[in-house]
Amino acid sequence: MIKLPGLIDPHVHLRDPGGTHKEDWDSGTAAALAGGFTTVCAMPNTTPPIIDAAALEMSLTAAAQKARCDYGVYVGATLENVDSATTLAKRVVGKKMYLNGTFGTLKMEQLDAIVAHCASWPADKPLLAHAEQHTCGAAILAAHLAGRSIHICHVSRAEEISLIRTAKDKGIKVTCEVGPHHLFLCLDDVQRIGTGRAEVRPMLATASDRDALRANLEVVDCFATDHAPHLLSEKDSPAHPPGYPGLETALALYLDLVHAGIITIDDVIDKCYTQPRRIFNLPEQPNTWVEVDPDATWVVRGADMQTRAKWTPWEGTTLRGRVERVVLRGKVAYEGGHVLAQPGTGRLIS
Ligand code: DOR
Ligand code: ZN
Ligand code: ZN
Repeated sequence: MIKLPGLIDPHVHLRDPGGTHKEDWDSGTAAALAGGFTTVCAMPNTTPPIIDAAALEMSLTAAAQKARCDYGVYVGATLENVDSATTLAKRVVGKKMYLNGTFGTLKMEQLDAIVAHCASWPADKPLLAHAEQHTCGAAILAAHLAGRSIHICHVSRAEEISLIRTAKDKGIKVTCEVGPHHLFLCLDDVQRIGTGRAEVRPMLATASDRDALRANLEVVDCFATDHAPHLLSEKDSPAHPPGYPGLETALALYLDLVHAGIITIDDVIDKCYTQPRRIFNLPEQPNTWVEVDPDATWVVRGADMQTRAKWTPWEGTTLRGRVERVVLRGKVAYEGGHVLAQPGTGRLIS
């Protein structure tokens, strides 16, 4: 048995408010605990989106009633909230800019708006971007010119990790995360998973993009699941929204990289705890840890998961490494397949 700190997932979509048939603060934080995560940071592309005080209040009220692990929320950037988002800075983990189209309505492409959001947001608060290909370059430059740091979400391509490496080498303040699906899946897997189910943003890339991420893990500051639950009925419909649930398979996949000799267990702690705590200014959770059997094998079954999505792109796969017990602030929150922490016991971190 190995003992890890309470893991942090800085990038999840919990659909509360507005999409609670897919996930809510209760089911999403239950999935987090089952996966070994004691802190999650939730993205603002809910319905309504978290772009003003009223929507933030809705999200935080629901979270206070339902969350089973600790949590924070991001505010989303729009053309209209360049100044008003800043008034919410103390209550959120950071601000998220969506520079490419994805699930939900939050997309902001205009260069002047990106520049303005970089300038207006407090320099000591995290600024994040969904920024693929050209917009990755735009986001890094706009933040650099504003004299501030930026965090690039779910890097998926060789050209992006290469650009980030070069920017870091030049002393530019950029950090980045990679998701388990972009480390383990590529376009060659789409047919097996199914077209609708495989849909995700950023889309699965080529095998050489996937390999470039694996070869540049020292440039990757942290891991983040981008847990994006949608029901199978939605994934299998013509509209097939993008995203995979990821909280309950992530740690076993990270441990697979350890078993394969690609990273060490200390790297997992660094990328799932130390670096996310540093980048997102997260407080310590006293008396909090995760007990993991690194060699226990289990067969992935979406139907057995805590997430309301009840499916996974790893259905039927045998993974090695299982969360046995999670202790959050001195109390057993998860043990032997059961979530014991009650709704409302999670705390707001900001
Ligand atoms: O695949 C994705 N799903 N990528 C995103 O950027 C958003 C997410 C969602 O909210 O479903
Ligand atoms: Zn995204
Ligand atoms: Zn996301």
